[in-house]
Amino acid sequence: MANTPKNNGALYKQLKKVIESKKDLREPLIEILREAQEIFGYLPREVQEFIAEEMKIPVGRIYGVVTFYNFFSMEPRGKHIVNVCTGTACYVKGAPRLIQQLEEILQIKMGETTEDGLFTLTSVRCVGACSLAPVFVIGEDTYGRIETRDQLIKVLEEYRK
Ligand code: FES
Repeated sequence: MANTPKNNGALYKQLKKVIESKKDLREPLIEILREAQEIFGYLPREVQEFIAEEMKIPVGRIYGVVTFYNFFSMEPRGKHIVNVCTGTACYVKGAPRLIQQLEEILQIKMGETTEDGLFTLTSVRCVGACSLAPVFVIGEDTYGRIETRDQLIKVLEEYRK
């Protein structure tokens, strides 16, 4: 589960150290935001404000970067991110149907997180496994050509253990 940033001094301390160590890099912001997301699990407004203050830059600039890149999230995310490829090959080979099945099984819509905090459903561009289309990725694992709903349920079950 994502950590709750409010009143969590230890996490802010950790983030402060990251900012200190990176702020003199040429383009530090993306790297700092990436580490901040690892620390907190996501990038809520208050974390963005903290970074802005520490780096002495407008919070709007941070918000712009966070909303531009889809690997940053302003909402708490699940333990496992189910990334469905919506690149051309996967789209043609059935990504929309795969998304629909995942939405039904997980009972969430694209971009949402299951109530138990286990899964977040998102989309990505081509992950370089087009021959396996349609493809989805969970963590380091890539799954392709899953034909049936039962197979899909079986894959997800592995992550519930
Ligand atoms: S389009 Fe999906 S892996 Fe290439």
